[in-house]
Formats: sequence, C-alpha cells, structure tokens
Amino acid sequence: MSSFNPSQFVLEHDQDTPKNILKAAYEAFGELTISFSGAEDVVLIDLALKVAPKEKVKVFSLDTGRLHAETYAFIERVREHYAIEIDVRFPDAEAVQALVKEKGLFSFYRDGHQECCGIRKVAPLRARLKGLPVWVTGQRRDQSPGTRNSVQIAEWDTAFGSNEAPLAKFNPLAHWSSEEVWTYIRMFDVPYNPLHERGFVSIGCEPCTRPTLPHQHEREGRWWWEDQGGKECGLHSTNLSR
Ligand code: ADX
Ligand code: SF4
Repeated sequence: MSSFNPSQFVLEHDQDTPKNILKAAYEAFGELTISFSGAEDVVLIDLALKVAPKEKVKVFSLDTGRLHAETYAFIERVREHYAIEIDVRFPDAEAVQALVKEKGLFSFYRDGHQECCGIRKVAPLRARLKGLPVWVTGQRRDQSPGTRNSVQIAEWDTAFGSNEAPLAKFNPLAHWSSEEVWTYIRMFDVPYNPLHERGFVSIGCEPCTRPTLPHQHEREGRWWWEDQGGKECGLHSTNLSR
C-alpha cells in the first residue's frame, strides 16, 4: 500500500469543510479525479477548481446509454460552464448487445438491476479507475441510511483498488446534508440538472429513476421495485462490505 493513511486523514480532517478536505487530498496526491453524474459532483468540481489547478482536476462521467435527455444537456452545461474536459465513458458495445439480445431492453425490472448496471456502469468504471491513485465521489451519508451511513471522508477502495494498485477514495461531502448541497448550489450559481425542478432528487438512468413524493427518502426514486436496503449498483460496493 502507498504511504497514504486514510484513518490518519480522517482523524485530521473529519471536521474540515469539503473544500479543505479536497485541498488536503490534492496536497497528498497532486491530482484529483472526480466521477460526475449529479448535483453533489458539480459542487465538488466547483470546489476542486478553487483548491487545485485546472489541469490537475480530472472529471469523468459514465454514459450508460440510458440517461435522460436532460442529463446529457446538464453534462454539456457543466463542461461549458467550467470550461473543463469531461471524459464521457461508454459501456462495451458487445456486452450491451449480448444482454439486450438475450433479455431485452428492460431486463432489470424482472431480474434486478445488478446485471445491467454491471455492464453499463461498473465495467466502464473499473476501466476508468485502472491505475488511478485517487478517486473523488459525491457520496453522502444521509443519501442512504441502509448503505451509506458509515461512508468515510477517506478510505481505501478495495473493490477497484488492490494491494498492488491501491486506490484512495475521497467522499468530501460525506457529512453534508442535501440541504447543505443545495444551499451551496444556489449561493454559487452552480449548474444543476433541470429534472430537479420536476421533483427528481437522486437521478440515475431514465428507466430506473422516478420523482419522489413529499417526505419520501431520496433513494426511493431509484430502483423503486427492489428492496430498499441494498440499493447500490456496484459503483460503491465497498459500502455493502463495510
Ligand atoms: S449510484 O451508485 O446509486 O448510481 P449515486 O447516483 O448515488 O450512485 O452517486 C454517487 C456517486 O457515484 C456520485 O457522486 C458520483 O461520484 C458517482 N456516480 C454515480 N453514477 C455515476 C455516473 N453515471 N458517472 C460517473 N459517476 C457516477
Ligand atoms: Fe441499467 Fe438501470 Fe443500472 Fe442504468 S440504472 S445501468 S438502466 S439497471
């Protein structure tokens, strides 16, 4: 493992602001790679560009092929707003074709989302993270009481990293509530997905996301036909093994 010590980092920075956590992460690694899909991630991009030079802040997004039209427009808006490169990654065409040929376009409603997510999200994520020392995500603890309540601001990602190629994962917004995220977005005019104006809170792929009703938890709009407890698609499977 590298000399970076996540437990020590947590001890030193757990009470820090997300901006200072990003700054410390940048000082430790000399680069930041942010995975981008939603509101939280744009807050991270906004903050990262305040603490690190633009060329050291890398941003990627996993295009599953099933995103809302609004989400594509949002990705483009973020690219233009910050004048950054967004590395949009696609799934393996043959793997998608084989799945669709065998099971159709909506197999996840019948036999669960893991197989489709595995092909459209997890495999491209694995390829993108290969050899990378540091990964920054927008996970928050209160996003999912079932799976994210012990997300740390820094941890080793053992799902995508290994002893030979350790991957440090930072979740600088771990302690932030949705309200804090949205206060920041309004205060600093951060671009957001227009679907939020139509009742969507947590946004993933179009067939697997719906708006939530008042007082429903935000994750209830994701894979709503499945059990509430294990709603992770495999991007953050360390949450389940923790
Ligand atoms: S998911 O695992 O249920 O899909 P969620 O939507 O809560 O994840 O997002 C949590 C974090 O995972 C985001 O802040 C982002 O860093 C990463 N993420 C999720 N989906 C994508 C995607 N399509 N592309 C890039 N990063 C993503
Ligand atoms: Fe497939 Fe739905 Fe997962 Fe998107 S969220 S990759 S459409 S199962």
